[in-house]
Amino acid sequence: MNIRKVAVSGAGQMGSGIAQVFAAHGFSTVIYDVVPLQLDKSRALTERLLTRAVDKGKSTAEERAATLRNLTWTPDLSVISEADLVIEAIVERLDTKQQAWKQVDELCRPTAIFASNTSSLPITQLAASISHPERFIGMHFMNPVPVMQLVEVIRGLLTSDDTHQIVMETAQALGKTPVTVNDAPGFISNRVLLPLINEAIFCLQEGIATKEDIDMVMKLGMNHPMGPLALADFIGLDTCLYILEVLQRDLGEDKYRPAMLLRKMVQGGLLGKKVGRGFYDYAPGLVAAR
Ligand SMILES: NC(=O)c1ccc[n+]([C@@H]2O[C@H](COP(=O)([O-])OP(=O)(O)OC[C@H]3O[C@@H](n4cnc5c(N)ncnc54)[C@H](O)[C@@H]3O)[C@@H](O)[C@H]2O)c1
Repeated sequence: MNIRKVAVSGAGQMGSGIAQVFAAHGFSTVIYDVVPLQLDKSRALTERLLTRAVDKGKSTAEERAATLRNLTWTPDLSVISEADLVIEAIVERLDTKQQAWKQVDELCRPTAIFASNTSSLPITQLAASISHPERFIGMHFMNPVPVMQLVEVIRGLLTSDDTHQIVMETAQALGKTPVTVNDAPGFISNRVLLPLINEAIFCLQEGIATKEDIDMVMKLGMNHPMGPLALADFIGLDTCLYILEVLQRDLGEDKYRPAMLLRKMVQGGLLGKKVGRGFYDYAPGLVAAR
């Protein structure tokens, strides 16, 4: 099966990036969100990023125009009925995603492939929301999607070989490197990364060092391109918290318990770069999709 038409559900920081990359590689792409304002912000952000790429000589004005021609932002979910591949990139909540997938299942053609960009939720459980779980898979892009090379491809218990192969080929057609992982909480990326971020937050909470110094230790000492607290801001503190809750619950290990400071910051709406404030403050011009 050839994937030509792609629908992305969720126009936040990940959905915007995923839609941009598909459109830039010639796929006819629609992006949908329940919040119309998110669609406006996603469009403005995408246009800005594409302009910046032209200004820096990384792409041409024609490529920018072609990408935008391939992209449609819409508040109308029914447009996804045309899609060969639906990618869901909505908030990291199991019940919200299950509900959204049920709606998508009712609208889509019988051959469509369904991929979730979830960071941690069980692919097999999400697949149970649709009538053909063999066509369901995890397609976990990294942030920022236009820049990052990896796509973790997660096979659920019932994912078919055909679905897996088509998604691997599609990731390669985007210029990405797909790596196959079996369905387990947090997959590889977040099972390894989130305990590191959580431990950095514990260090801050316990007053062991300032946020700047914690990040500096990991940058200069471990050669990480970003410190863990800056990275948490970049991912979104709400997303970090949800992932840790999934790891703790589904692996049954207390070592994954989220730091109280993380929970408090999420309760206080300090969600990181996407809202302009997390561990660090961000100038309005730097704020991503909100
Ligand atoms: N942030 C990261 O670094 C990162 C990396 C990889 C994967 N992910 C995953 O990608 C997904 C999205 O994360 P994000 O950082 O883009 O979040 P975000 O908060 O930036 O965006 C989420 C979007 O989903 C929309 N939404 C909520 N319910 C919806 C529904 N029922 N239908 C359509 N849209 C709906 C919201 O309006 C919002 O625009 C999550 O599953 C997250 O775990 C995030």
